[in-house]
Amino acid sequence: MYLIPPKKRHGPTGKKVHGLAYTSAFLLPLREVPNKSTFNHRNMSKISVIGAGNVGATCANCIAQKELASELVLLDIKEGVSEGKAMDMMQTAALLGFDTRITGVTSDYTKTAGSDVVVITSGIPRKPGMTREELIGINAGIVKSVIGSVLQYSPDAVIVMISNPMDTMTYLSVKTTGLPRTRIIGMGGLLDSSRFKYYLSAALGAAPTDVTGCVIGGHGDTTMIPLTRLATYNGVPVSTLLDSAALQQVAADTMVGGATLTKLLGTSAWYAPGAAAATLVEAIIRDEKKVMPCCVYLDGEYGQKDICIGVPVMIGRNGWEKILDYKLDDAEKAAFAKSAEAVRKTNSVLHDMKLI
Ligand code: NAI
Ligand code: 2OP
Repeated sequence: MYLIPPKKRHGPTGKKVHGLAYTSAFLLPLREVPNKSTFNHRNMSKISVIGAGNVGATCANCIAQKELASELVLLDIKEGVSEGKAMDMMQTAALLGFDTRITGVTSDYTKTAGSDVVVITSGIPRKPGMTREELIGINAGIVKSVIGSVLQYSPDAVIVMISNPMDTMTYLSVKTTGLPRTRIIGMGGLLDSSRFKYYLSAALGAAPTDVTGCVIGGHGDTTMIPLTRLATYNGVPVSTLLDSAALQQVAADTMVGGATLTKLLGTSAWYAPGAAAATLVEAIIRDEKKVMPCCVYLDGEYGQKDICIGVPVMIGRNGWEKILDYKLDDAEKAAFAKSAEAVRKTNSVLHDMKLI
C-alpha cells in the first residue's frame, strides 16, 4: 500500500480529495473538494490590496473568506491600520475556517512583491452631495504614485482599479504604465449591475439571484447605462413583467445607487463594492472565463477609441480576454456615446494636471 502524494490524489469520481488515500482498491471515503477547485489556486496565489479603508478591508475580508490566495497583503499609508485590520481578520480564520495568511503593512511595498493580482482602493471617497468625478484632484496623484510602487515589486500583476473616478483612474493607469491593456481592469459595472439586480428584484418581488442584468458605460451617476432591454427574470425578459414606468424607476434608482448610500452613510458604501471587487479577483485567480461588465481600454470596440469605460468582458487568469458585443440598439448606442463623451471630459483633467 502506498500513500499517494497530495497533488495526485483523486476520489473515485476523478475529483480531487483531501485526506489520506491508498492505492488499494479500497479507497477510504474521502471528503471531496466542493465544486470550484480551490486546491491549487489558494496554495499558489498572492494578492495585495492597496488602501485598507472601508472598501479595501472589505475586499480583503471577502478574498480571505473565499480562499483565493495563500498570501494576502493589505497596505495603507496610515500607520498601524493595515496591521490592525489584518490581525483582526486573521483572528476570524479559526472561526470561519480559511487558510489565507493576511499581512498588514504601512507603506512597505516590498511585502507586496510577486503579487498575482493587486487591487487599488487608495484615495478619498466621496461625501454626500459630491460626484465621483470631483475626487480626481486628490485621487489621480495618489493612484499614479501607488501604481508605480506596485509595479516596481509586482511587474506581472493584473491590476484591479477601484479608486474613483474609476474610469479615469483606469485610463491613467493604462496611459502611464505601458502595460498591455488586458492587465488593467476597472471595477464599477459589476457593482452597478449588482445594484441593478437588487432594484429589479425588489420591483419584481423576486430573489436577486434569479435576476440577470448588466450595467455598461461609465461608473458615474449620469454615465452608467442599465441595460433594461436585456435584463431577465429566470430567462423571461423583465420588460414583459414590469411596465416602462417601473423599469425607468429601476434604472434611475440604479444610477444613483451609490449616491443614495453615501447620503445615508455619510461616506461611500463598502460592502457591495468590496464584494464586487473580490468577485472580480476571484474570476481572475480561478481563470473563470466569466463575463462581467468591467472598465477596460477600448481600441475601436463599441465605436470608441482611447478611453476606458465599462463593457462586457471575459475575465481569465491574465486579465480580460475579450470584449463581448452586446449589439446595442440605437438608443443604447446613443447613451453609450454620451457616456463616453462625459468620461473623456473627466480624462481631460489628467492633461490639465500634467499627469499624462
Ligand atoms: P476610505 O477612506 O475608507 O479608504 C481609503 C484608504 O486609502 C484610507 O485608509 C487611506 O489612508 C488610504 N490611502 C490614501 N492614500 C494612500 C496611499 N498613497 N497609499 C496607500 N493608501 C492610501 O475610502 P473607501 O470608502 O475605502 O473608498 C476608497 C476609494 O474607492 C474611493 O476613491 C472611493 O470613491 C472608491 N470606490 C469605488 C467604487 C467602485 O465601484 N469603483 C465603489 C466604492 C468606492
Ligand atoms: C459607489 O458606487 C462611490 O463608486 C462608489 O458606491
